[in-house]
Amino acid sequence: MKFLEKLNRELKHAISAECEHYPEKTVIDAMLYSVLSGGKRVRGSLVRAFAVAGGAEEDEAIAAAAAIEMVHAYSLIHDDLPAMDNDDYRRGKPSCHKAFGEATAILAGDALLTLAFKEISTCSLPDSIKVKLITSLSTAAGAAGMIGGQQADIYFENKKCSMQELRRLQNGKTGALIKAACEMGVYIAEKDEFLQNARAFGEHLGLSFQIRDDVLDVTGNFSALGKKIGSDQENGKSTFVSLLGVKECEKLIESETCSALYVLHSTPFWTDEIKNMAVNLKNRNA
Ligand code: IPE
Ligand code: IPE
Ligand code: MG
Ligand code: MG
Ligand code: MG
Repeated sequence: MKFLEKLNRELKHAISAECEHYPEKTVIDAMLYSVLSGGKRVRGSLVRAFAVAGGAEEDEAIAAAAAIEMVHAYSLIHDDLPAMDNDDYRRGKPSCHKAFGEATAILAGDALLTLAFKEISTCSLPDSIKVKLITSLSTAAGAAGMIGGQQADIYFENKKCSMQELRRLQNGKTGALIKAACEMGVYIAEKDEFLQNARAFGEHLGLSFQIRDDVLDVTGNFSALGKKIGSDQENGKSTFVSLLGVKECEKLIESETCSALYVLHSTPFWTDEIKNMAVNLKNRNA
């Protein structure tokens, strides 16, 4: 079975198992709807790629990959809410609150965030690794990471934002989870001596990833992206495109991808799989 199939099976199993106690299981349906609705699985795949490149078995990465995809799905559910970006579509389907209502969407996000940590704490890895994974994911997801970045993203709506502030904003909202995915793979492989390389790679890749996301919000199309185009401008967001324009963004995407790859040289993570991932993400249209 391919990794992404195993990952989906694990996500489905872990979420479905939560419905034992309450027959009012709309929240479970909402969690399954959002998590299994597609998505590129970038963060889960990065966990796997770093773990395997570092010498671990692929199956050892499944729980951590599922956990980070749960956190990511939760972040998207909340990001789409009317109080945040107010987006009606995600992954080509009505966003969670459009399909299930706002209250259930909020709860589904909360439950996915919580379940992510249960997923790691109950997996079969040694406790010492599990603690590192939980520390990494909770740090990245919280106010010092993704939430902090999301707050900054809201703060800078319709405000002037410097390049430095924008980089800080994106390092949190998108970079933190991408960096954590690389870090978690390293922990699973017990190659902690290369943590700094993996973190630096994750930071550069995260930046390139968000710049591409900002560009696609202007130049992309709904059928490929599965989300509305022009959302950022409508919300008055400070983005790399609003600061630099599309042309400069393309240059920055190239240079950040180069920097990402550069830091992996002479490490076990200089593999075709990881290099191809970085290049494919740079050129993506979805
Ligand atoms: C979208 O992430 C939100 C950002 C952090 C830019 P992805 O582009 O990875 O979304 P999916 O998982 O493929 O839907
Ligand atoms: C979302 O950034 C980042 C998180 C969900 C943490 P965006 O708001 O740019 O993502 P999209 O464009 O809605 O996917
Ligand atoms: Mg947003
Ligand atoms: Mg959004
Ligand atoms: Mg966006």
